[in-house]
Amino acid sequence: MKHLISAEQLADRELLESLFNKAEDLRAKKSEDTLQGKVLASIFYEPSTRTRFSFESAMLRMGGQVITSENAALDSSAKKGESLEDAIRVIGGYADIIVLRHPEEGSAERASFVSSVPIINAGDGSGEHPTQALLDLYTIQKELGRVDGLHIAVVGDAQHSRTIHSFLELLKVYSDIKVSTDDFDSILPQVDVLYMNRVQKERLAESDSKESPYTLDARALEKLSKNAIIMHPLPRIDEIDPIVDADPRAAYFRQAANGLYVRMALLEYLFS
Ligand code: NCD
Repeated sequence: MKHLISAEQLADRELLESLFNKAEDLRAKKSEDTLQGKVLASIFYEPSTRTRFSFESAMLRMGGQVITSENAALDSSAKKGESLEDAIRVIGGYADIIVLRHPEEGSAERASFVSSVPIINAGDGSGEHPTQALLDLYTIQKELGRVDGLHIAVVGDAQHSRTIHSFLELLKVYSDIKVSTDDFDSILPQVDVLYMNRVQKERLAESDSKESPYTLDARALEKLSKNAIIMHPLPRIDEIDPIVDADPRAAYFRQAANGLYVRMALLEYLFS
């Protein structure tokens, strides 16, 4: 694997197990120096909190260094009209790996065609977000001890949500998974994972409804199975009432924290 564009490239049980084991190991150690002398460029044409900071922290904790454009649409030569392809050709001369987020579906793949260094897709419009799926599956494995045989409810904007696309892609590796995408009130007592997502407002037309298909509040929480976990890639807007945060089943902040270790493991894998 040179570039990581789609979760499909991670759909290998042995690879996932070794990345998750490595992530567990790095969680205990907190840092390693295996990437000393390497430079990661993070180029974000769309806002980010978790993905960019966790990738940058991961690179620093592995002994590498980071150059970044956190608002590339405005602060890079894209503002002057430079193409993504030209930017990638140039930045590839300065960095050993590029983490790219861009509003257009297919942009990461386009970048990979011209890049001399590995491209990691950190979100391409409504397309995919493979490293989010990686940390999502790691979180389920860690919280519930398994992924096979689980009943997973996916709430959100399935058409535009790249996190849902990559998550569903990676779930194909596991067996006997039941995925539900509606009728949430009645299935809450049976689900093992409630995977919430925000409506992707920035990708919708003005006339489209911006309402979440389901809201998790105190009333809904009552119905949820006692052994279930609640996940969300974040940012959470209004689809999870903050009252839920104190419930032990709320795994979304633990999930966000897991992103660091999974990305440390992934960087080491891509460089090895
Ligand atoms: C997601 C994204 O950017 O697709 N955020 C993230 O990386 N955790 C989810 C979202 O913005 O809804």
